Amino acid sequence: MKLIHCKDYQEMSKKAAEIFAAQVILKPDCVLGLATGSTPVGTYEHLIEWYKAGILDFSQVKTVNLDEYVGLDETSDQSYRYFMNHNLFDHINIDKANTNVPNGKAPDIAAETDRYEALIKSLGGIDVQLLGIGNNGHIAFNEPHDAFDGRTHEVQLTESTIQANARFFASMDDVPKRAVSMGIGTIMQARKIVLIANGPKKADIIYETCFGPITPNVPASALQLHPDVTIIVDEDAYAAVAAKCGK
Ligand code: GLP
Repeated sequence: MKLIHCKDYQEMSKKAAEIFAAQVILKPDCVLGLATGSTPVGTYEHLIEWYKAGILDFSQVKTVNLDEYVGLDETSDQSYRYFMNHNLFDHINIDKANTNVPNGKAPDIAAETDRYEALIKSLGGIDVQLLGIGNNGHIAFNEPHDAFDGRTHEVQLTESTIQANARFFASMDDVPKRAVSMGIGTIMQARKIVLIANGPKKADIIYETCFGPITPNVPASALQLHPDVTIIVDEDAYAAVAAKCGK
């Protein structure tokens, strides 16, 4: 596990974007694993900027997103598909047919989870996966639990995640309570993983993720077992590591 601390959100975003840009340059038909949330927005802004500057070509790139709310699709501006279109796909030369987000409106969610898992396999797996992290240590929508969830599955969101997501919805009743999410096993099969985090609310969980016990109570702690993980944080999210590890 490599932990890089940056002075601020901008620097964190640029460093993460550089890794994704390098991947696209080295392997133009790569499979990028993408994430939603407020954290990756700056990373996507850099990728868009470098595409516009003629540095990046996404014409052969394929993408798979981590998760989607059950009951939402691109017609909802709170869906993760909508987020990806508006924050990245609409601004680069990617073929939308090559972009994949779980279908939150699939009539049979169990069948959708199987389809998504098979799709990732058929693409040859994920070259580099971007992750944010929830305040409780969730990655994608793998919530703290008594066991690690292996494959893409349906998730019942925890109260703390529902509360954290409420800021994006008009009322509490509108906040989805369920999601389709890649499992920890799916994420761990990515060849390379980049996790980004910023702000003081993420400080304790970044310490736990990097230095705490490997436990399904902190889903991100599973990343300690992956051979190629880079965690990029700003100064605030690094604070607990700095305090406890003396740097
Ligand atoms: C949601 C997403 C996660 C994301 C998390 C943190 O729960 N499913 O993939 O990492 O939010 O979001 P933010 O980046 O806004 O803190």
